[in-house]
Amino acid sequence: MTILSIDTSCDETAAALTDNTTVLSNIVWSQAADHAKFGGVMPSLAKRMHEERIYWVIEKALLSAGKKVGDINAVAVTTGPGLSIALGVGVEKAKEMAKKANVPLIPINHVEAHLLSPLSQPKPKNRNNKSKTVSKFPAFGLVVSGGNTIFVLLNGVGSYKVLAETQDDALGEALDKAARMLGLGYPGGAIFEKMAAKGNLNAFSLPVPLLGQENRQIFSYSGLKTSFYRLIESQKAKDPNFPSKTDTYNLAATFQNAAFTHIERVVSHIIKTKESSAGDFYLGGGVAANVELRKRLRAICRKHGLTFRVPYIKRLCGDNAAMVGVCAFLNPKFIDPEKIDRDPNVKLL
Ligand code: KG4
Repeated sequence: MTILSIDTSCDETAAALTDNTTVLSNIVWSQAADHAKFGGVMPSLAKRMHEERIYWVIEKALLSAGKKVGDINAVAVTTGPGLSIALGVGVEKAKEMAKKANVPLIPINHVEAHLLSPLSQPKPKNRNNKSKTVSKFPAFGLVVSGGNTIFVLLNGVGSYKVLAETQDDALGEALDKAARMLGLGYPGGAIFEKMAAKGNLNAFSLPVPLLGQENRQIFSYSGLKTSFYRLIESQKAKDPNFPSKTDTYNLAATFQNAAFTHIERVVSHIIKTKESSAGDFYLGGGVAANVELRKRLRAICRKHGLTFRVPYIKRLCGDNAAMVGVCAFLNPKFIDPEKIDRDPNVKLL
């Protein structure tokens, strides 16, 4: 099944061609640099840029895959969650493309697409022995992105149970906000990762969120963010030149450590206490690109006999349309295109 997929949920204009779970092309035109001067995403700017870029991105996705509109069997589009006016651009374009190709339009939940993204596969000539083709259920799934932090039990494709969810900020959002406090630019997660790798995580002290309260099965990052702000301010009061380069590395390492330890503790607690025959652990979302987080989660999986699975390339962690096409193949919902609309606050369940 050849699917043209589109995602304009936030600040990436994305289109892709997939064949079942195989990614034929995956074009992402990021607007991050354009939003950086505002320290975060400006919805009206995002909408305008999606409108300007969507045609080019779709053309490029078709060309890179060596496909024409007539080769498409379905169009898939992210309808939510995301920024309402940004989602609208992709949904309208997808309707237009589905009409042009005379094929069904499949609405996709962005979080579900991240959740199933480890099931994407490269083209056969790029596959190696590590590229697994078979999905095993039940499985645990963790999505860590700029807008979501959610831990799920997948009993099968489309059959999910939320095990824990953030009650305030998402992990990526917290990393972005912490990086902004240090004037490191937007989005801050990847910059923080590089800085943290050079830092000493014991140079400062920050509380791990909800320590000892893992049985509440929630994630929370707003308290950590406030503690981080207070830590920076108290150090500045002592030393007007704070932070030095080394201080910045150490602060990044300390924040990242507290944030990741929280994830580890909640996830470990749930895996330990849940009666589940899950054999796989899927990790998706922008923060899934982080090597340190992967290392820590891989260790948990090893301890509990779970197979750790991430998307086969990091480009499939951050927002992209290939995961939307893969999700549409695995869990298609054929709905009258007239009834399909953006749904910015939609939940996974
Ligand atoms: O999945 P994504 O592109 O967008 C959403 O669906 O929200 O995730 C974006 C988030 C941003 O917060 C960004 O800072 C974070 O992913 N991120 C990272 C890394 N790369 C991107 N966080 C930590 N380490 C990284 N290497």
